[in-house]
Amino acid sequence: MPQLDVIIGPKEHSFEVAEGENLLFEAISRSVMIPFNCTSARCGTCRVKVLAGGEHLNEVGDPEELRLGEEKVNDGFRLACQAYVYGDVKVEVPQPRLY
Ligand code: FES
Repeated sequence: MPQLDVIIGPKEHSFEVAEGENLLFEAISRSVMIPFNCTSARCGTCRVKVLAGGEHLNEVGDPEELRLGEEKVNDGFRLACQAYVYGDVKVEVPQPRLY
């Protein structure tokens, strides 16, 4: 089974997921709380940066690209609610800037 690593602040959470499962739902079902709101590519709250294994995710769809913008997509960002896992993947939840 694919391994999903989710970095939130100083902590890294690692767990196995069934192939083809949704990144956001798999994380929150294990109490790994990636922030989210709409779950439908409208709010952008669930944005994560892919650090490794981006090729093991489904392709970026039009609603996701529209929400993130081309630059963020090219920088490796995904919407967790739109990402499906097909192999080992490591993502990081961006931390809010204090200033
Ligand atoms: S939760 Fe709103 S875009 Fe993913």
